[in-house]
Amino acid sequence: MYTQSMDIPDAAEKGPPESASAASELANAFEARIDADGRIEPQDWMPDNYRQTLVRQISQHAHSEIVGMLPEGNWISRAPSLKRKAILIAKVQDEAGHGLYLYSAAETLGTSREQMLEGLHSGRAKYSSIFNYPTLTWADVGVIGWLVDGAAIMNQVPLCRCSYGPYARAMVRVCKEESFHQRQGYEALLVMMKGTDEQRAMVQDATNRYWWKCLAMFGPPAADSPHSALAMRWGIKRISNDELRQKFVDATVPQAKVLGVTLPDPDLKWNEARQHYDYGEIDWQEFWTTVAGNGPCNKERLATRVKAHSDGQWVRDAAMAYARKYRERTITEAV
Ligand SMILES: [Fe+2]
Ligand SMILES: [Fe+2]
Repeated sequence: MYTQSMDIPDAAEKGPPESASAASELANAFEARIDADGRIEPQDWMPDNYRQTLVRQISQHAHSEIVGMLPEGNWISRAPSLKRKAILIAKVQDEAGHGLYLYSAAETLGTSREQMLEGLHSGRAKYSSIFNYPTLTWADVGVIGWLVDGAAIMNQVPLCRCSYGPYARAMVRVCKEESFHQRQGYEALLVMMKGTDEQRAMVQDATNRYWWKCLAMFGPPAADSPHSALAMRWGIKRISNDELRQKFVDATVPQAKVLGVTLPDPDLKWNEARQHYDYGEIDWQEFWTTVAGNGPCNKERLATRVKAHSDGQWVRDAAMAYARKYRERTITEAV
């Protein structure tokens, strides 16, 4: 999918532009393409800051997909039916695929998979704070599909128009799969709401626990989001955090009504003048505490990832040994 990355010259190989005028010509060409809403491709010149912003965003996105497999993976062995188990396995597997497309997209910017994984495993790199909360009941799996994947879709659809080509193209397929994730979650909840009082109570409880965390998932308001302005200027980000959050609230309130659950916000009401729903204050303190590594499951999630990586070392070693032997045999046969 990202084979064009093979054409990227190393930084050292390419070297700096020969003169100040050549450098400003490159910068002007970049800005002109951004202004014309064109795509930047891996072999194109780009400012260091643009490259770093993308590496940070795409690798965080990739880590979120991979760590996001854990809360739901927890329920694969306990799914209530064969059908639900098959759906959940397919969904969790999709998330692994999303992580792989995104690591590949980030690699086209000159960062290696090892560097990115080292960032995740050492705790330096961030991933979405929502995955640091536990999945206590089967209803959590449905609510994650409905609300977490629903929020992810809001966030990711504009990324299909991101100025960086490989990221934008990866997001097209990711968004199609996220749409299936959202629907399967909502459908699982609809079925539970037609069940017993106990099942309905589980759905309400999961909704109560996840609602505010999903609103925080869009990130802080622009004033507190240090990278937002530049990312907007460069067409990496197209819609502000607050606008995306509002779109999510407006889309979700009617879905909650159909489902028959209440959203845990006394300030949530339709504002005729704004033609949007008003909603209450988000607890940003809790968000920052979780981002800083002190949420309820941060340590467990990271420990699980690190263990999976080191447990898989023999597979990587075996694959490398096989590739080496295959190469040697091919050379011997060719001689
Ligand atoms: Fe995903
Ligand atoms: Fe998903």
